[in-house]
Amino acid sequence: MAVIPGDGVGPEVISASLPVLRAAARRAGSRLEAVELDWGGDRYLRTGRAMPPDAVDVLRGFPAVLFGAVGRPDVPDHELIWGLIIGVRQALDLAVNVRPVQSWAGVTTVLREPDGIDLVIVRENTEGEYAGIGGRAHAATPHELGIEVAVHSRPAILRAARYAFDLARSRRGRLSLVTKSNALRHGYTLWDSVVAEVAAEHPDVECENVLVDAMAVRLVQRPRELDVLLCGNLFGDILSDLAAVLAGGMGMAPSANLLPGGDVPALFEPVHGSAPDIAGRGVANPVACMLSGAMLLDHVGLPAAGRIVRDAVATALRDPSLHTPDLGGSASTKELAAEILAAVETT
Ligand code: NAI
Ligand code: MG
Repeated sequence: MAVIPGDGVGPEVISASLPVLRAAARRAGSRLEAVELDWGGDRYLRTGRAMPPDAVDVLRGFPAVLFGAVGRPDVPDHELIWGLIIGVRQALDLAVNVRPVQSWAGVTTVLREPDGIDLVIVRENTEGEYAGIGGRAHAATPHELGIEVAVHSRPAILRAARYAFDLARSRRGRLSLVTKSNALRHGYTLWDSVVAEVAAEHPDVECENVLVDAMAVRLVQRPRELDVLLCGNLFGDILSDLAAVLAGGMGMAPSANLLPGGDVPALFEPVHGSAPDIAGRGVANPVACMLSGAMLLDHVGLPAAGRIVRDAVATALRDPSLHTPDLGGSASTKELAAEILAAVETT
């Protein structure tokens, strides 16, 4: 696999995770080769670009990519976000973003439900409100305008929907389509009709349509009944941060970017950014990155290794003395990672 540690806490959580992933692969009888790429903010400051011109061809040579985070206070955000992570997602056409969210025994959250949360958000990853189409007009007049055009296409909805229905079938068989088709009458009514067609191909999956505002309430009040949430780009972005907080925070949220059935590497990354407020202090929670690595192991055909990582994380999190400050504890990244590594090596 290729590994892009990036900036801020990115390298901290990646270096905590790699030994865990390697050890889990070894326990599952395999070897995990990792090639590190020095892409990100430092490279941008040195060369004017966050990644080399042939970056996408380089990545195509790997089955999967593990990415930390980019972003640093002395570089404009869009240079690194568009110059690296969004650039890679678009160039590889990583159509679907998968964000599992689950409660962990030992981790207390704001959630009221005693039996917690266990769901997956499937987010369309290439268009919608993030299509990048629009512009600004009438600058410096009282009528100044900013126009952002949302694009929703049948092929993009179809590939996200098919992935989400297959996933629901492998879980508890329930899918909630999240839209705002009462008010946004063009794009989201297309979602409603395309998803109804895919639902007809999957009679064994129970499908409901939920407006995004109602879904925000459901997530907080009754998350347990939710299984797979299928969302467009914007709603998936927002709801997955909300869901992540219900499960313990940004330090706990993994993700995958993939092209279902496509011959391109999938990219796995913690949902969080470079966290400049805590970077360099050795207190970042490495769990989101490790769980992203576990998804990578599943993806490259080592599901037993993925399970070993998740079990080891669960074992360590049951002990509050191993929690990092974001979980209310005082352990360091290294202390938590060392216990998870020990659990991987002894299970
Ligand atoms: P952020 O996710 O970096 O941080 C938000 C909050 O969560 C902060 O209080 C941070 O300390 C905390 N946090 C994040 N990761 C954590 C971890 N592993 N352990 C414990 N606490 C953690 O989001 P923010 O502050 O909006 O952005 C910071 C930089 O990261 C910006 O430059 C932004 O553009 C970039 N960014 C990059 C992303 C990526 O590379 N995929 C995604 C989101 C933001
Ligand atoms: Mg986000």
